[in-house]
Amino acid sequence: MTDDANQMWGGRFAAGPDAIMEAINASISFDQRLARQDIEGSRAHAAMLAATGIITDNDAKAIREGLLTVLSEIEGGNFPFSIALEDIHMNVEARLKELVGEPAGRLHTARSRNDQVATDFRLWVRDQCDAAKSGIRTLQKALLSQAEAGADWVMPGFTHLQTAQPVTWGHHMMAYVEMLGRDASRFGDARARMNESPLGAAALAGTSFPIDREATAIALGFDRPMANSLDAVADRDFALEFLSSASICAMHLSRLAEELVIWSSAQFRFVTMSDRFSTGSSIMPQKKNPDAAELVRAKIGRILGATVGLFTVMKGLPLTYSKDMQEDKEQVFDAADNLMLALAAMEGMLADMTANPGALRAAASSGFSTATDLADWLVREAGLPFREAHHVTGSLVALAESEGKDLPDLTLDQMKSAHASITDGVYEVLGVDNSVRSRTSYGGTAPEQVRVQIARWKEALS
Ligand code: ARG
Repeated sequence: MTDDANQMWGGRFAAGPDAIMEAINASISFDQRLARQDIEGSRAHAAMLAATGIITDNDAKAIREGLLTVLSEIEGGNFPFSIALEDIHMNVEARLKELVGEPAGRLHTARSRNDQVATDFRLWVRDQCDAAKSGIRTLQKALLSQAEAGADWVMPGFTHLQTAQPVTWGHHMMAYVEMLGRDASRFGDARARMNESPLGAAALAGTSFPIDREATAIALGFDRPMANSLDAVADRDFALEFLSSASICAMHLSRLAEELVIWSSAQFRFVTMSDRFSTGSSIMPQKKNPDAAELVRAKIGRILGATVGLFTVMKGLPLTYSKDMQEDKEQVFDAADNLMLALAAMEGMLADMTANPGALRAAASSGFSTATDLADWLVREAGLPFREAHHVTGSLVALAESEGKDLPDLTLDQMKSAHASITDGVYEVLGVDNSVRSRTSYGGTAPEQVRVQIARWKEALS
C-alpha cells in the first residue's frame, strides 16, 4: 500500500485513484446528510459488539463517546469532509480514529458499508415519512378551517371545468382533506413496511461473528431485523415507496394549486391570496401573481422525476449491492425537501387566503347549474322517466340560453311550453341554496353532510 492509496480499503492498491475516479466515486458532498443516522447506527453496532463480547466494553465506550464528539463537530458545521474518504461512513470513521485511536478500527467488525448505508438511508427516509405525515396534518387543519368557515357557501361544482352543479365551499375543501388523508396513510404504510433493520447483513452474506441483530434493530427503533441478508443490502423499496407516496401527494398539491391559480384570477375572483404568498410584476404595476401556488403546482415535476429516476437506477440491478445504488440518495433528498416545502407553502397560502362568498355564489347561480335539479323535479313531481326529464330540461336550457337568461328567470308559461305538468313548485329547486341543501346523500354536498365530515376529521386530527 502506498501513501496515496485509500487508507480505509487501499491494502491491495499500489496507486491512488485518478482525480476523475475520485470525483465520480465520492458521495460525501451529499451523503453527509446521513451523518446523524450513520452515527446512531454505529453507536448501536458498537454497543452490540460489546454486549456479545466481540469487542471489549472499554473499546465500545471509547467508540460510542468518540462518535458523539464527531456528531457534535459535524452539527457544528465546520467538519472538514474529505473527498478522498469518499462517503459519510469513512469520513466519520477516519475522524473517530483521530479522536480515539486504535479502538476505532474495531467498529467495522461484522459490518460492511453495504448494510451500513442501507441502515442509514432507511433511518433517514423513515424520519421523512414522519415529517411528511406531520406536514400533511397541518395542511389538513388549514383546509378544515376553510371548510368550517364556508360549510354552506354555495359555489359552482365543475366537471370538464364547466359549471356542473352547485356545491358548497366546505365540501370542496373537504375533498382535499380526504385526498391528503390517503397521502398520510400511504406514508404511514410505507413507514411500517420499511421498519426492519438491514444492519448485520454485513457485505451481503451475514457474518461469522456472534452478533445480535435483534438488539441493534431494537436500539434503532426498528421492529425486527430483515430476514434475508442479500435482500437487506440490495433493497431500496423503502425509498421507492417514499417517493411514490410523495409523488401522489405532490400531484394532489398540484391540483389544489391549480385551483388557487384559477380562483385568484380576475375572471374568477373566488379567492384573494394574501400579499405574503403573492408577488408583483416588474413591469405591470397592477399585477399580483400567485407564484407560490404556481411553484407548488410544478413541484410534482421534480418529485415524480426523482421517482422515475430511482426506479430506473434500480431496474435490472443484479443482487446484491452495486455502486449504482449510490445514485439513490440525491433525488430522494431533493424530493423530500421539495415536498416539505410545498406542504408548508400550501398550508401558508390556505391559512392566509380569503374566499369571496359573493363571487362563489354568483358563479354558482349562472351556467344553468340547477338543470339537474329541474330534471330530478320532473321525475319526482311529474313522474317522468329520467331520460325524458333530461330532454325536457335540455329544451328549457336552450330556451333560456337563447333569451340570455338563467333557468329561474323563465316564466311559468315558458316552463309549461316544454312540459304541461310543470307547476310553480319547480322554482323552489332552481335556487342554488335549495339545490345544495337537497343533496343529503352520504358524502353529498349538503351543508349538514359536510359538517358531519368536518366533525369526523376534527376528531381524527386532534
Ligand atoms: N457511498 C456508498 C453508497 O452510498 C456506500 C456503500 C459503499 N459500498 C461499497 N461496497 N462500495 O452506496
